[in-house]
Amino acid sequence: MLRDNALEGNHFVVTGGATGLGKSMTKYFLELGANVTICSRKEDKLLAAADELEEQTGKRPFYVVCDVRKYDQVENVIKEATAKHGKITGLLNNAAGNFISPTERLSHKAFDTIVDIVLKGSYYFTLAMGKHWIANGIKGVMLNIVTTYASTGSGYVVPSASAKAGVLAMTRSLAVEWAKYGIRSNAIAPGPFPTKGAWDRLFPENLRAQFDEAGKVPIGRVGEHQELANLAAYLMSDFSAYMNGEVVTIDGGEWLKGAGEFNHLDAIPSPLWDDIAKAIKTNTKAK
Ligand code: HXC
Ligand code: NAP
Repeated sequence: MLRDNALEGNHFVVTGGATGLGKSMTKYFLELGANVTICSRKEDKLLAAADELEEQTGKRPFYVVCDVRKYDQVENVIKEATAKHGKITGLLNNAAGNFISPTERLSHKAFDTIVDIVLKGSYYFTLAMGKHWIANGIKGVMLNIVTTYASTGSGYVVPSASAKAGVLAMTRSLAVEWAKYGIRSNAIAPGPFPTKGAWDRLFPENLRAQFDEAGKVPIGRVGEHQELANLAAYLMSDFSAYMNGEVVTIDGGEWLKGAGEFNHLDAIPSPLWDDIAKAIKTNTKAK
C-alpha cells in the first residue's frame, strides 16, 4: 500500500511478533524498510520467524525473549533493541492471550493469566517505552491491537474483553497526556483474521463446523493479513501524523451487523419482501 522504503529510518518493537498477525505486520514493516525488533516468550518461535522473515524480505528482524508480564524483561527489550538498531521510533503492543470459556468455569488464575498478558503486558511496555522516550527527548508512536469487543464487550471471552477495554482506555488517555512529548497513541480493532493462535483457542475444530465466522461478516469473508498490515503500517508511519487517540475498526462490518436492530432481516428471502410490503401498506392504510 505504501511506497517502497516508506518506513526507512524507523525502528519498531513488535510484541508477539513471531506468530500470526504480529509476524504479518512485522513482514510488511521490514518490506517497507523499517528495522524491527520482535519479542515473545518462546525463543524457538522467535528464531524460526527471524529466519523466515529474513528469507522473505531480505531483512532480518532482531529478537529478544521477553514475557511482557515481567517489567525487567520489558526494560531489557528496550535496552537490547536500542543497542542493536538505535533509537526505537514505534511500539506495537500485539501480544495477547485468550480462550473461550463460560466465565463461571474460570479459576481466578485463569482470569489473571489473560488480564496479565493483555492489560499488564501492554501497560508495562507502554510505561517503559514512554519513560524512555520522554527521558531521552525521543518522539514515537504507539499502536495497540485491541478487538471490536473492547468497546461492545463479549460473553465467553470476558477476561480478554475486560483487558482489551483497559488497553483502549489507556490508548485514548495517553493520546492526550503524552502528545506534548510528541508521542501518539492509536489502536486497531480487528474482526476475525485467521491465525493458528486465535483459531485453536477461539474456534476449535468441534465448533468450526457449527459456527461459520465468514457468515457473520457483511462482506462475506474473514480478513486477510495484508489488509491489517496495510493499516498498521499507515498508523505506525508519519503519514498518520494527525491521527491520535483513534481506534480503527477493520472487520468487514461484523460488529455493526450484530448491533443493528433489524440486520437479522438479511435472512428474509427476496420474494417475501413483496408480501411484507403489501401487509405493511394494508395495515397502515387501514389506520
Ligand atoms: C479454562 C484455562 C484454559 C481453558 C488455560 N486455563 N486454558 N481455563 N479453559 N481453555 C487456565 C489454567 O487452568 C490455569 O489456571 C490458567 O488458565 C493459566 O494457564 P497456563 O496454561 O498455566 O498459562 P500460560 O502458560 O501462561 O498460557 C497462557 C494461555 C495460553 C493464554 C492459557 O493459551 C497462551 O499461551 N496463549 C498465547 C496465545 C494466544 O492466546 N493467542 C490468541 C490471541 S487471539 P489454574 O487455576 O488451573 O492454575 C485474540 C483474538 C480475539 O485475542 C478476537 C478474535 C475475533
Ligand atoms: P497469536 O499468533 O497467538 O499471537 C499472540 C502472540 O502473543 C504470540 O506470538 C505469543 O508468543 C505472544 N504472547 C503471548 N503471551 C505472551 C507473553 N506473556 N509475553 C510475550 N508474548 C506473549 O494470535 P494472533 O491472532 O496473531 O493475535 C495477535 C493480536 O491480534 C492479539 O492482540 C489479538 O488479541 C489480536 N486480535 C486477533 C484477532 C484474530 O482474529 N486473529 C482478532 C482481533 C484481535 P509466545 O507464545 O511465544 O509468547
